[in-house]
Amino acid sequence: MKSAAITVKNLTRRFGDKIAVNDLSIEVETGEVFGFLGHNGAGKTTTVRMLNGVLEANSGSIHVLGMDPITDGPALRARTGVLTETAALELRLTARDNLLIYADLFSVPRDKVQTRVRELLEFFGLGESADQRVETFSTGMRQRLSLARTLLHNPEVIFLDEPTSGLDPVAAHQVNALISNLAEEKGRTVFLCTHNLVEAQKLCDRVAVMEHGRLVAIGTPTDLIQQYVRRLDVEIETAPGQMDAALQALAPASSLTFGLPRHTNGNLTLTVTGREAIPELLNLLVQNHIRIYRMSPHQPTLEDVYFALHDEKETVQ
Ligand SMILES: Nc1ncnc2c1ncn2[C@@H]1O[C@H](COP(=O)(O)OP(=O)(O)OP(=O)(O)O)[C@@H](O)[C@H]1O
Ligand SMILES: [Mg+2]
Repeated sequence: MKSAAITVKNLTRRFGDKIAVNDLSIEVETGEVFGFLGHNGAGKTTTVRMLNGVLEANSGSIHVLGMDPITDGPALRARTGVLTETAALELRLTARDNLLIYADLFSVPRDKVQTRVRELLEFFGLGESADQRVETFSTGMRQRLSLARTLLHNPEVIFLDEPTSGLDPVAAHQVNALISNLAEEKGRTVFLCTHNLVEAQKLCDRVAVMEHGRLVAIGTPTDLIQQYVRRLDVEIETAPGQMDAALQALAPASSLTFGLPRHTNGNLTLTVTGREAIPELLNLLVQNHIRIYRMSPHQPTLEDVYFALHDEKETVQ
């Protein structure tokens, strides 16, 4: 079992009457990419701020690399990097100077600074703009510079709050590849807040889903899909002209389906209760002499988990 890079126990933070984070307990393992998901206002950024010692908790405990972010702040910040939602860059300075100032703050060895800064600027596609003032940068360029700054001192634990927001698809892809590489090759721990569920599914070893400050689900994307996705879309392609006959044949199986079958691209799409429904439906179709060319279930995704959790909540309330 790997050691925990981050341990959070019964963490609570209120703002006035509002509970932004409510009794949160999680452990993030060393070398793991941990996704932190949830709707706007779910408590993600508040948690990241507490994990970084920027905000005090009302109750509960936090250990990052074995240290308390409030009492061991400077020692911890030397070993962690954080990309906040609104990273404050020095707009009147150049990209290079922004990094050099930061390097000074983090005591990056002087002989290594220039090379490290150049490499990061190159990696983030800012080589040619390195000596321009940041105020002339586009949103995506600023985001890339903020990411470079986060990684400057080679942190062991990296907190990324929406790292790909504002990035074009190519830059977003590069950042995601970098995140995987940091974890897999370098053993870094990445705590990633994101609304991008497709990215989260690809990148994260485990994800946690927050709702109104509470943890509602945690696990690997695969486990969560198995646990929460109770409906599956299946597309059926019949021989030409057999669609209506297929609908009739399927009528007795209404307990295995949700709602009515839909016509999509000349095919039928059914929402069914799970994989187990597929052979039964196929049986019905075959018994009724429907010629089936294709029956393909849509692979459920983390997005389906997210919506299943949301639906669950709606029905409970
Ligand atoms: N400084 C603050 N003062 C008062 N309320 C706050 C403060 N910071 C956050 N909140 C409230 O706490 C709750 C959680 O906010 P938080 O920023 O953690 O959400 P989030 O999950 O990061 O959302 P988003 O996806 O929009 O970034 C929200 O209701 C927000 O209004
Ligand atoms: Mg946020």
